[in-house]
Amino acid sequence: MTPSKSILWKTLQQSAGTVPRLTTLFANQPERAKNMSYRVGGLYADFSKQCITPEIQADLFTLLASCNFDDWRAKFFAGDNVNTTENRPALHPALRGTGGDRHIQKQVRDMQIQTRAFCEHIRAGGRYKTIVHIGIGGSDLGPRLCADALSADHTPLLEIRFANNMDGASINDALEGLDPATSLVISVSKSFTTQETKMNSVAAKIWLGEHAQTNMIAVTANRHSAKEFGISPDKIFDFWDWVGGRYSLWSAVSLSLQIAYGPDVFDALLKGAHEMDIHFQSAPLVQNLPVMLAMTGIWNCNFLGFPSQAIIPYARHLQGFPTFLQQLEMESNGKGVTRDGKPAGITCPVIWGDEGTNSQHAFFQHIHQGHGSAPIDFIAILESSEARPAHHTALLANCFAQSEALMVGKNEDIVRGELIARGMTTAEIDALAPHKTFPGNHPSTTILLEKLDACTLGNLIALYEHKVFVQSIVWDINPFDQWGVELGKVLAGTILNELNNGTDISAHDSSTQALITLARAALKP
Ligand code: F6P
Repeated sequence: MTPSKSILWKTLQQSAGTVPRLTTLFANQPERAKNMSYRVGGLYADFSKQCITPEIQADLFTLLASCNFDDWRAKFFAGDNVNTTENRPALHPALRGTGGDRHIQKQVRDMQIQTRAFCEHIRAGGRYKTIVHIGIGGSDLGPRLCADALSADHTPLLEIRFANNMDGASINDALEGLDPATSLVISVSKSFTTQETKMNSVAAKIWLGEHAQTNMIAVTANRHSAKEFGISPDKIFDFWDWVGGRYSLWSAVSLSLQIAYGPDVFDALLKGAHEMDIHFQSAPLVQNLPVMLAMTGIWNCNFLGFPSQAIIPYARHLQGFPTFLQQLEMESNGKGVTRDGKPAGITCPVIWGDEGTNSQHAFFQHIHQGHGSAPIDFIAILESSEARPAHHTALLANCFAQSEALMVGKNEDIVRGELIARGMTTAEIDALAPHKTFPGNHPSTTILLEKLDACTLGNLIALYEHKVFVQSIVWDINPFDQWGVELGKVLAGTILNELNNGTDISAHDSSTQALITLARAALKP
């Protein structure tokens, strides 16, 4: 039975209207923070500022168990075809040594031996100064996030530049000021058919000129097309159809990271993810961190009615995390039908966010006092690698202050008392008090990283990957396909042809016709 039709779902719906305010929950539960905090690897996660009672928490775990969670998790790690619409497994954990059969494990090991040897060769050779990583979506966001995050604790041997967008500025900026002789171009595309990556790779190949044969590499699950493109077979690194694009950073897709930071640092990233895999596989539901993160999200989205979820890393080096999670969560779980093709209920919330403290000075006003406020995952690092201790102390103070302020709020009586103390008249107080009142009771989770090192980064990313999987089980959807991106790609091909060749556009609506006409006029040589 669909979970949303179950008695438990209705019980949870009724509970949603009865949750005491967060401040009351804390007053009544002296051990609340301790009871609702988890430690896994280098992570500490505190869920106590979520609007959840112990009874609701227990019901959420029962709900998950009733969705055959144990079976799904076992199938996932065993390499069953959990990606049902594409009839294949989603075995990214095997890339970090968890799950899969002997054949898959050998494929992974062989690839890791090949990439390690190649990276060591490039690093020892000293010929290259810069890597230009070309890719988009899952072939960009993971390596891009990690390149930035790893630089908190390590100095890359080579600079990495990224080119993702169709906008020519993306590849132009990436190549700006580089010498083709000392640049290694890595073209990353699972399909090797993605328009952006193809156009940027063609531009880079032309730019490399005589060096293209030696300095251009491909990472792909479509070796044939990479060869057709002109990459020599010994410079093609494979990954496999059982690695989804947005789950692929653990593969040769991150070759640029492995070269720049060294294979040992990359292994530490894999180790951190493996640690989270083992925890996810073995911890009982009540102690299972990805499960708690997922079920808290389900509670906020399906029962408390929050349409979005904010991710606020208080760490400059994790600035890319909200964007990475946008693809991971929304491309995975932004689905309209269940596994058997029936209409799904409400699924993935909109994921958004930016780094703290910048976001405090941009959109936090809306979260504190606007309508449709979002639950927040605050992410901060305890031990900073920056030699700015005063900055770091203030950064943490701001992070903790925001979650407290969002929870506690400020009621009108307190505001009025403050204004009276300032000597204001009753009329002035009546006019100002509503503006200075904060409703509070906004839910948040705080995740602290002991340190932003490779291993803890692996913990963090794998945590969210498994969160997405758990939620998909409750929503009864396939998180490993992405059919919704296809229609726009097909239409873009049609319109590109019409822009280039001036063919008939009368089949389009009048808005699209007008846009094409304007563009044709502007694009004329
Ligand atoms: O946007 C759709 C998508 O297929 C993503 O799922 C994928 O990560 C991205 O495009 C890039 O695809 P590829 O690695 O095949 O170039």
